[in-house]
Amino acid sequence: MEGGETIDVVVRRRDDRAGGTIAVLELARRDGAPLPDWAAGAHLDLTIAGDLIRPYSLCGIPGETGSYRLGILNDPASRGGSQAVHATFTEGLETQISAPRNHFPLDNSAKHSVLVGGGIGITPMLAMAHALKAAGQAFEVHYCVRTRESAAFLDELAATFPNETHLHCDDGAPDQRFDPDGVLKAAGPDAHLYVCGPGGFMDWVIDRAKSAGLDKDRIHFEYFNAQIDTHGTAFEVVAAQSGVTVTVGPDETILDALGKAGIKIPKSCQQGVCGTCLCDLLEGEPDHKDKFLTDEEREDNDQIITCCSRAKSPRLVLDI
Ligand code: FES
Repeated sequence: MEGGETIDVVVRRRDDRAGGTIAVLELARRDGAPLPDWAAGAHLDLTIAGDLIRPYSLCGIPGETGSYRLGILNDPASRGGSQAVHATFTEGLETQISAPRNHFPLDNSAKHSVLVGGGIGITPMLAMAHALKAAGQAFEVHYCVRTRESAAFLDELAATFPNETHLHCDDGAPDQRFDPDGVLKAAGPDAHLYVCGPGGFMDWVIDRAKSAGLDKDRIHFEYFNAQIDTHGTAFEVVAAQSGVTVTVGPDETILDALGKAGIKIPKSCQQGVCGTCLCDLLEGEPDHKDKFLTDEEREDNDQIITCCSRAKSPRLVLDI
């Protein structure tokens, strides 16, 4: 992890599911010593090769520190990270991870939680379901997939949470398709919604939840990829602590321009979704392009995601 602490781990187990499209990995320290504690909704940064690092949600039982469990889709549309995992991560392989970080925590005050996972976006919901069950809190899980065969985690969900699990297949009968309006109406205005999955799917669910009148504080989401246009006009960035000023060119990111000047900011997804490259902003007006900051955080204008966001003012001053 560039700029961050790493933990050496070994792939203790690999289980390929859904016709080999999803690899479920179990990562542990070689000596079996405990890993850092974590809570539902957490993700970690996985070193795949060299500086190829990607964030993945933990999908085991929260608080389990003997090993971490990840579910990784072999996504042909990805930028190569998941394909490399599928091609090279065999049992016994050694690699590094970051400690878990959690930008997608459960709200423990929720009377009822609606967990919605689109495809591989079910992974954080698995951990959330375990946490809610252990806490004795009411919840329902909606697992939205293209086909029944691609529902790699259905068997364990149905076995562990038989009364809470609902499967929705795109190729199934119309009456079993996911209906956000109906689900949220039945859940009531006090429910909290958690959603993760492909960007278009998430945008649709979040939009329906807002239209249904669900308070924005009750809508929780985590994007795992985004199509963001990071290009624009050039601007200047001052790294205040280092006393370095760089020009960010039209085709560059702040992260890259500072990196060339020797200022390394921790990074992972490089798609504006994981928050690893967040920096405090001291001066200037950012042009937020990420999918990580909340609307309120954007309005505060005191933080910026440096792998994709740009500037509306000619100059930004970062606290780095
Ligand atoms: S590296 Fe993930 S948001 Fe920038």
